[in-house]
Amino acid sequence: MSKTCIITGASRGIGKAIAVALSKRDDISNFVLIARSEEGLNNTVKEMNQDKNIQCKPMDLTLYEDVASYIHSIGTHYGSIDMLVNVAGYAEPKSLLETTMENWEKTYSINVHSIFNITKESVRFMKKTGGKILNVASTAGSSARPGWLAYASSKAAIISMSQTLSEELADYGILVYCISPGRCATELRKVLAPDEDPTTIMQPEHVGEVVRNLLSDEGVCLDGQNIVVRKQVEKIRENEPAI
Ligand SMILES: NC(=O)c1ccc[n+]([C@@H]2O[C@H](COP(=O)([O-])OP(=O)(O)OC[C@H]3O[C@@H](n4cnc5c(N)ncnc54)[C@H](OP(=O)(O)O)[C@@H]3O)[C@@H](O)[C@H]2O)c1
Repeated sequence: MSKTCIITGASRGIGKAIAVALSKRDDISNFVLIARSEEGLNNTVKEMNQDKNIQCKPMDLTLYEDVASYIHSIGTHYGSIDMLVNVAGYAEPKSLLETTMENWEKTYSINVHSIFNITKESVRFMKKTGGKILNVASTAGSSARPGWLAYASSKAAIISMSQTLSEELADYGILVYCISPGRCATELRKVLAPDEDPTTIMQPEHVGEVVRNLLSDEGVCLDGQNIVVRKQVEKIRENEPAI
């Protein structure tokens, strides 16, 4: 069956790697890639399987009404939305007293509210046929990260949303996955740890392959739980911050 898959945050980093990895699958025919950078999205398309039908949508996910109406047009056009992969994220690490309301609201609007909005609109279609939703949280969402209050707590919200939606949507045949990557070599990671050598940590392609497996038939019993994705070496670097 030809499936339709929406991926946010697909202009670079983990979202790009997931798009490239999923494009190797035979059962997904249509890809919808969302992020603000048109150039970034076009670069992602160049690395994907060229046999696929790929639609790029440069769009700010915090323009909630525009996003809702676009998702409605996608669902109507393809007749179903089979997979939604929520990857887009934002981080501006600050301590409590340095966190402005603007920082707090921006972090939550991208990391939490936009997932609520796009998931709601996608599920209107997905519930007719069943499907899979995968949310990208972070290890910062399940353990303390002093100095990253807004980011870490927004990721905790994603873990909680995923667990609740996993049970709420089960009757429609919708599986909800949540992954929490550890430190991964992307632009966002550079914001969180500017002095780190990116060659020493997990690469986006590692996460892409994990997601490809999770969203295959082999991953059918792994929904509804927070799945940590990180290199073994990260687990023993206990005194350093990892996201
Ligand atoms: N890197 C890590 O170590 C790590 C660890 C744990 C979790 N994560 C999570 O993994 C996800 C991907 O992050 P990454 O590390 O790959 O970072 P990244 O390279 O900075 O990518 C972030 C993506 O989000 C998109 N985005 C941000 N704001 C957006 C908005 N308002 N509207 C639409 N798209 C927006 C960006 O696209 P545009 O700028 O083109 O809009 C970009 O594609 C995030 O949720 C992050 O929290 C990352």
